[in-house]
Amino acid sequence: MELATASPSVIDLEKQYLLQNYARYPIVLTRGKGCYVYDTAGKRYLDLIAGIGVNALGYAHPRLTKVIREQAGLLLHSSNLYYHEYQGPLAQRVAQASGLDRVFFCNSGAESMEGALKMARAHGRKISPEKYHLISLENSFHGRTFGALSITGQEKYRRDFEPLLSGVHFVPRNDLTALEQVANDHTAAIVFELVQGEGGIYPLTSEYVRKARELADRYNALLIFDEIQCGVGRPGAYFSYQTLEPPILPDIMVAAKPLGCGIPLGVVAANERAAVSIGSGMHGTTFGGGPLACRVALEFFDILDTLMPHIREVGSYFRMRLHELQRRYSFIKEVRVFGLMIGVELDIPGKQIVLDAMEEGLLINCTHDIVLRALPPYTITEREVDKAIVLLNKALKKAKTTAS
Ligand SMILES: Cc1ncc(COP(=O)(O)O)c(C=O)c1O
Repeated sequence: MELATASPSVIDLEKQYLLQNYARYPIVLTRGKGCYVYDTAGKRYLDLIAGIGVNALGYAHPRLTKVIREQAGLLLHSSNLYYHEYQGPLAQRVAQASGLDRVFFCNSGAESMEGALKMARAHGRKISPEKYHLISLENSFHGRTFGALSITGQEKYRRDFEPLLSGVHFVPRNDLTALEQVANDHTAAIVFELVQGEGGIYPLTSEYVRKARELADRYNALLIFDEIQCGVGRPGAYFSYQTLEPPILPDIMVAAKPLGCGIPLGVVAANERAAVSIGSGMHGTTFGGGPLACRVALEFFDILDTLMPHIREVGSYFRMRLHELQRRYSFIKEVRVFGLMIGVELDIPGKQIVLDAMEEGLLINCTHDIVLRALPPYTITEREVDKAIVLLNKALKKAKTTAS
């Protein structure tokens, strides 16, 4: 990848002054419109990663731009010492959409998971001091804070920070027997992503989720669904647990990413049984649920309601077009599409394909070295999917030539 499009001064400053924890791609983005972003050289990219699943309505959506402008001139932040006009209505909206009763707003995915874990620990502690164990999945990803990291089932993220929370048990995805063996009266919560995102776009079966629900009920534990990547409209429903047949309700659901469409916003939604574990003064956050973020999220929900059938249709269209590519390239092992959550598993490394796609003007990323991942804006059209397929095909063709 050439560095010609990047601004050296910005990159040099970051190299000198930032923690060197991110491996950035060498482009500097300045603006976006719809599903496209532009770099400092004016080069246009069709963006299928969309801020890692955050920019659900693409860039510069006129309705979001309007409410952000308006709210910026009224009230940006007021803290949780006082009421403002938007947190209550948004809480009602999230409760109705999720089928849960009470809501807590925060600022990110990891922070929402922290809230859920505190709820689980407080719930367990009320029953017995031994009831603090957490069950999570191998290959899962729940965030970088200590609690969320403790239940992230990937050694590479955890090892530098151990010891983490004790009492965490990892089980393989969709293995009913393993789950049954580890759950007991000491279990405070079972935590799942219904479709593992960072882990490579792997879904849980309805049967497995039903078993978890049954075990959580049997042992008076809480069932927590992490919908940070796989939820909030992306599956073509509000939340991915609503696409199971029949739907299975968690006790707690956490979401973030697309909720504020780029304004940081996370949420913990809980039924009364779980919510009662957090009393006055037990949890809080300065920025969470501010007027700007809540107003934007309310606007987003209004737009999302009209987009849901489109997400399902364009997701199916994307699946069909990716299957065409799969027939053309033998190194494409599997195509996994859940609404607009898309993984293309390869049997070669994906890194160079991502760089070549970028060169062609297409942004995707690669997770677990071999899974190309796309989390496009919900507004993407079939024409834009066609364009993405043309660009991806060019990158895949290069990979085929290199491989042969
Ligand atoms: C499933 C899942 N949970 C939690 C997180 C952490 O979210 P955040 O980066 O907003 O803290 C992520 C982020 O990628 C995620 O995909």
